[in-house]
Amino acid sequence: MNIGIIGAGNVGATLASRISEKGLADVVLLDIMEGIAKGKAEDINDSLSIIKASKRVFGTSNYKDLADSSVIIITAGLPREPGMSREELLKTNLAIIKDVSKNLLDNCKEPVVITVTNPLDIMTYAVLKNTGYPKSKVFGMAGTLDCGRLVNILSRRLNVMPSKIKPAIIGPHNDDMIVLTRLTKVAGKPVSSLLKQNDLSEVIRLTKERGAYIVSLLGKGSAYFAPSQAIFLMIESIIKRKKNNFYISCYLNGQYGLSDVCIGAPAVIGENGIERIIELALDKEEKRRFFDCAAKIKETIETLGI
Ligand code: APR
Repeated sequence: MNIGIIGAGNVGATLASRISEKGLADVVLLDIMEGIAKGKAEDINDSLSIIKASKRVFGTSNYKDLADSSVIIITAGLPREPGMSREELLKTNLAIIKDVSKNLLDNCKEPVVITVTNPLDIMTYAVLKNTGYPKSKVFGMAGTLDCGRLVNILSRRLNVMPSKIKPAIIGPHNDDMIVLTRLTKVAGKPVSSLLKQNDLSEVIRLTKERGAYIVSLLGKGSAYFAPSQAIFLMIESIIKRKKNNFYISCYLNGQYGLSDVCIGAPAVIGENGIERIIELALDKEEKRRFFDCAAKIKETIETLGI
């Protein structure tokens, strides 16, 4: 058993390093650029030797090497450039996802797949449609990342430990994400009761713009430390059968009154992938916003004919 990572760029390589350093599993790191996959794998292996770790990373461009991977993470694709929306990556990354999906079908035995490539909700849907894998075995990493960003911003503003904050964000992984201020709690109290409306609106804006802010600072490429952290915890919950809750992009099949769409919602993640989608008790306005976002995602899916 090993973990397969497709795309040995910033997110993929950082994730490979996290998984192997923490002794979670061996990693197969695949990239279309063989040298990048092999070079980064060997650099990580040297670092693993320094700390006397027992796990190893294998770099490759051959999908046959993913045959024994029980969990596969897809990070292949272009990241954003300054001033670019995640949606602008759509066509290029969709072609990459189609190629990756075909290779998975030809070489793997129905692994649990976590999509990271943006625009996330659309790409997760595309993996499902192009592989035909069970709906519970394919999901996207994003809500947990957005929640981490919200917690970071709130903890600094309110001067409280991150551990005291329970975030809640649903909807798409883009500027339409829905920060549930009624359900986001700080020491058990709704954040909506702790901050003035102006401050709350600013926290929400900063959370939504956090990814773009990091892209603008980096000048080249997008965030990878926080994304790889969120993915690591999900993989750990799968391998160690922890059944922890995560905000993910998941395929809804009647939950929340929606169907045939991938969108952010909380779910229990365990050895089978999505064990259960959690249906939050949304109020009328929250439900209306969630429905609007789902309709927008569906429209894009239909336009692209995925
Ligand atoms: N098959 C395999 N690997 C591919 C393919 C393909 N068809 N196309 C591109 N790649 C590889 C690239 O060679 C590169 O090494 O994917 C890697 C992407 O790495 P980065 O450019 O560093 O991007 P990264 O920051 O890791 O982000 C990857 O995740 O967060 C999202 O928006 C982000 O869509 C982007 C993805």
